[in-house]
Amino acid sequence: MNEVVVRLAGVGRSFGGIAALTGVDLTIGAGERVAVLGASGSGKSTLLSLLNGSLEPSQGSIELFGAPVAGLSSGPRRELQRRVGTISQGLDLIEQVRVLHNVNAGRLAEWGASRSLASLVWPRPDERATSALEAVGLGWAVHERTERLSGGERQRVAIARLLIQRPELVLADEPVASLDPTTAAEVLNLLGRVTEVSGTMLVALHQPQLAREHCTRAIGLREGRLVFDAAIGDLAPTLLDELYARA
Ligand SMILES: Nc1ncnc2c1ncn2[C@@H]1O[C@H](COP(=O)(O)OP(=O)(O)OP(=O)(O)O)[C@@H](O)[C@H]1O
Ligand SMILES: [Mg+2]
Repeated sequence: MNEVVVRLAGVGRSFGGIAALTGVDLTIGAGERVAVLGASGSGKSTLLSLLNGSLEPSQGSIELFGAPVAGLSSGPRRELQRRVGTISQGLDLIEQVRVLHNVNAGRLAEWGASRSLASLVWPRPDERATSALEAVGLGWAVHERTERLSGGERQRVAIARLLIQRPELVLADEPVASLDPTTAAEVLNLLGRVTEVSGTMLVALHQPQLAREHCTRAIGLREGRLVFDAAIGDLAPTLLDELYARA
């Protein structure tokens, strides 16, 4: 395996005594594009939130880029936030502001709060933000209000934000939910382009076919447990039947 980017050992997370994730051991190397598959409620978002630091594990240890993520002081934590880019299930776009601000949010970790705030008050489209929007086909939308965009356009704004962040690890939580098949393929191709430069991706998906087309490896979660971990060519229909079967 290439350089190890993600290493989980015995990771679990509970909410009020209910286990969302249990005993997950997982190692991911640089350059892997890993589909996270599983029925609704199986723990996909919990796993991705543990990896981007928005949740803490109840058990076990998490290492990113070879170093533990627990107990980091603010400097190293911010450096880690710069290296990890997230598209969350709710997208985290601010609806009422112009597209440019949502793209520049990709620089929060690099710029710090005061410069980010200044950019919100005095927006200056610069080369990087404009070319990121052009790369996702939204050059025309720099000054549009985000709330006016369609679902597929919003997903592309979230990807433009990743393009200027240039993360080394991308965590995407159902980035193509509710998109038509052509737009879904386009969005996943764009995410692939983000990771061409930056390396590694975990993407929660509900369509195994998209995993086959866009990922190198798939893991399956069932009731919070890792039930398979396969190279994409070994993703057999029986594995998927078991994954989605009702208990
Ligand atoms: N903040 C929370 N508080 C309480 N329970 C939670 C919380 N977050 C997740 N859970 C529970 O943990 C389990 C796993 O949820 P999670 O969101 O990780 O599933 P998922 O696989 O992402 O589902 P979906 O496909 O619907 O997005 C569920 O039973 C959920 O209700
Ligand atoms: Mg989810």
